[in-house]
Amino acid sequence: MDKKRVLLVSDTHHCHHEWYGVGSEERMERLARHIAEEYERDPFALILFLGDYSLDHWKWQIGGSWVAEKRSYTKEWLDRYADRLPPVPYYLLAGNHEQYGEVLWEQLTGCKRETEVVLGEYLFILWDAYGGELDPDYHHDGVYTPLDVERIRQLMAEHADKRVILCSHHVAIDREQSEQTAALLADPRIVCLFAGHTHRADVRELHGKKVIFTGNYSYCDTAVKGDPRPYMWGFRDLYLDDTGILTRYIIPENTVTLNGEEVTVPYHVMGGVEIKF
Ligand SMILES: [Fe+2]
Repeated sequence: MDKKRVLLVSDTHHCHHEWYGVGSEERMERLARHIAEEYERDPFALILFLGDYSLDHWKWQIGGSWVAEKRSYTKEWLDRYADRLPPVPYYLLAGNHEQYGEVLWEQLTGCKRETEVVLGEYLFILWDAYGGELDPDYHHDGVYTPLDVERIRQLMAEHADKRVILCSHHVAIDREQSEQTAALLADPRIVCLFAGHTHRADVRELHGKKVIFTGNYSYCDTAVKGDPRPYMWGFRDLYLDDTGILTRYIIPENTVTLNGEEVTVPYHVMGGVEIKF
């Protein structure tokens, strides 16, 4: 297959909060602009959004905006920006802050809570890591639902010639220690896993496979190794071909306030991961 590029975006959290001295409206404008600029730089064939577009469901302070006042920032974000996304297919997985049931999620976003996408020789399986206690009438932060081994095996059987990449809002390493999951991930057709939720862009391991985190475009209190600053706003790209994959965390240029000081973070990439077959 020809080399293809995918963009993975998570934890954008359009909501009432401002972070790093930038209000949510302005931050969403920058996100839309930066995705468009990245497409201009080197086009991608697909965008996968891995959850947390909002605080529509949220346990703390003023609570989630959907439960409190039937306000969906997820929907508002799509209404404003879907037309400004590059002209490629995109899919939205729900995060733990989007606890909408299947029907409501599809009404709001046009997406299913679980889906699969074929791109060239690859099958992306998008699975729902927060499928518990949906459509709540009380404030909570989501209920983790481990990887559905049966569904993934079935999809892999239906697409027997494809390499497989698993994507979700989160991979809770400690919740994925079952023998069935270990046996599934031992399959050499499974290349790696991508997940959001931690707001970091680092890499962990699960049963010998890399779990690659997709950062944030909102906030992260954790400093990058060797750099006192937090993981700054960005997204991952992913190059795919017959020989392997390459993914990097891309941080567009942004002027923000960090620790009371205005700083301009230059465009740069970090967190590169290469897997060769
Ligand atoms: Fe998040």
